Amino acid sequence: MESIACMTTMLLIFGILSSHQSSAHSPGQPSTGFAAAIAKSLDSLLRDYSFHGVSHPRTGVTYQGKVPSNISGVRTAMVRLRSGSLRFRGLKRFHEFDIPDGVIARPYVQRLALVYQNLENWSSIYYRLPGHRFIAPVLGLLAYEAEDLPLTNSTELHILATEKPISIKFRNLAQKTGAKCVWFDPEGLPRLSDLRPGNVCITRRQGHFSVVVNSGGLVVPNLRPGGAADGWSNIWRIAGAVAGGFLFLVLSVLLLMWVKVYRREKRMKEMVHHAESEEALQKQRIGGAQLPVAPMVRTRPALENEEPMAPHSPASE
Ligand SMILES: *[C@@H]1O[C@H](CO)[C@@H](O)[C@H](O)[C@H]1NC(C)=O
Ligand SMILES: *[C@@H]1O[C@H](CO)[C@@H](O)[C@H](O)[C@H]1NC(C)=O
Ligand SMILES: *[C@@H]1O[C@H](CO)[C@@H](O)[C@H](O)[C@H]1NC(C)=O
Repeated sequence: MESIACMTTMLLIFGILSSHQSSAHSPGQPSTGFAAAIAKSLDSLLRDYSFHGVSHPRTGVTYQGKVPSNISGVRTAMVRLRSGSLRFRGLKRFHEFDIPDGVIARPYVQRLALVYQNLENWSSIYYRLPGHRFIAPVLGLLAYEAEDLPLTNSTELHILATEKPISIKFRNLAQKTGAKCVWFDPEGLPRLSDLRPGNVCITRRQGHFSVVVNSGGLVVPNLRPGGAADGWSNIWRIAGAVAGGFLFLVLSVLLLMWVKVYRREKRMKEMVHHAESEEALQKQRIGGAQLPVAPMVRTRPALENEEPMAPHSPASE
């Protein structure tokens, strides 16, 4: 009985989870909410790691960051700049990013730090665009207040390119036909725009950027963006389908077993109940009348000798 209750609970939880999953990732829905919060926490982690070990960075020098082993493959870099320098000179070739002059940061600070992220093979784990798959890694450009040294968990700034836009040049796109730029803004909302000649995307603000193609409706996380993405994504797709099918089969069998057990118990209960009520209604011939008599009474009823109704019965009051 306990195992049935346990199984029911498991099935219920699975049902809730899977319905939640499907509603969270249904086509057309942006990956906001929970997913955005997870991506944000990755931002904080990468900021801390890119600041860590560079307690006194030299202005204008790019430092490559180290990441914890649980996200190995991800790359970060950091540069500390004067706001005036960013505004009047920009920053050329900050990895894939080319920052022109005219970029301002809000709220105003004298010194800020720009953090670069390349999520590589972790891209589609942290970012997702329903109905699309990444054909390039997700790249991040974020700005932080960096007034005081050593740098710690400083607040995020908003940057805005007031003149020319910031450009992002993607290398080694796996595919080009139908490719679109995607920008996940600071709130995690995705926006699509055209890919420019030379595999360039442009932006006026900070956030996360990549290139996607339509995946033909089937939304499957592809774990290898860029490079040999196609072969891998197909393998994952097939593996996903097989695993999903198997899981469905197992769950169906469990459900069937549960229904069987439940039915048997129900039938047993019904039989017991039936037997009881039959017993209860067993008629006994007493004094020439057919009266329903409970069979389990300890003293056998002897109506003939019974005393008259008690004086406090409702009828007499
Ligand atoms: C990875 O490890 C770091 C430190 O060891 C930890 O702070 C962080 O939460 C972990 N991140 C993930 C995504 O597991
Ligand atoms: C990404 O690649 C690194 C090796 O470069 C590996 O350690 C890591 O497990 C991979 N991550 C995922 C999600 O496949
Ligand atoms: C990080 O920020 C929080 C609040 O923003 C602050 O309370 C905490 O002391 C900071 N940690 C460090 C190491 O500066």
